[in-house]
Amino acid sequence: MKIIAGNWKMNGSRTGLNAMLCDLENVDTKNTVILCVPYTMLRAGNARVAIGAQDVSQHTHGAYTGSVSAQMVADAGAKYVIVGHSECRQYNGDTNSTVRQKAAQVLANGMIPIICVGETMDEKQAGKTMAVIESGVRESIPSDVGTPIIIAYEPRWAIGAGLTPTADEIAGAHTLIANTLSEMGLAGTPVLYGASVKGSNAAEIMSIPNVDGVLVGGASLKSDDFIPIITSVK
Ligand code: 13P
Repeated sequence: MKIIAGNWKMNGSRTGLNAMLCDLENVDTKNTVILCVPYTMLRAGNARVAIGAQDVSQHTHGAYTGSVSAQMVADAGAKYVIVGHSECRQYNGDTNSTVRQKAAQVLANGMIPIICVGETMDEKQAGKTMAVIESGVRESIPSDVGTPIIIAYEPRWAIGAGLTPTADEIAGAHTLIANTLSEMGLAGTPVLYGASVKGSNAAEIMSIPNVDGVLVGGASLKSDDFIPIITSVK
C-alpha cells in the first residue's frame, strides 16, 4: 500500500474539487489518497480521499493578519498539512526551524504533517544534496513526535520542471532519509517522493526501495492525470 498525495498549489476551485472527489470515490485502490488544497477549498474528504492543507502558521492564534492556524484547518476538515514545501521555503522564507514549529502545531491539532525536504540546484551542484537532506530531516521534525508524520523528499530543482533524478539518486536520498529517521527513533515513517511525478513514471518511482508513495503537483489537478497515478500500484 502506498500514499498518493496531490498538491494543488494555488490552483483549482471548490466546484472542481467536489467533482474530483466524486471521480475518485469510485477508484478501486487500497492506496491512501490525499488532496492538499488551498485554504478556501478545505472541507471534509470522503471514504476514499482525505483532504489536506498546504501550509499553516507556526503560531497558535492572535494578531497575525492573513495567517491561518492549524486549529482552523483541522476545524475545516483537513487531516494532513504540508509543511516546508519548497515554494514556502523559497517565497515565504520558511526555514527548518519554522517548519519544525509548524509541524508541531499540526500534530498538536490531531493532524499529520507532510514535512518536505530537498536540495536546490545550487546545493546539488555544490555536492551538498545529502547534507541538506539530512539536516532538513533532523531539524524540521519536532523532538517530541508521538503520532504519525510523513516525510516528502522533493528535489527542488526538479519540481514542475519535467525533470526527475535518476532511480539511483532517488534510492540514495530515500535510504539516507530512512536511516536518519531510524536513528531518530522514527523507523517506519513513510517517505514520499515528489517532483515531476506523472502516470508514466509513478509505478517505476514507487518501486524504488524506501519510496512509500508520491507527492504530486501538476498531475494531481485533473482526474484523468491523477487516477492513473493512484492506480499505477496495487
Ligand atoms: P510537480 O509534480 O508539478 O513537479 O510538483 C511537485 C510538488 O511540488 C508537489 O508538492
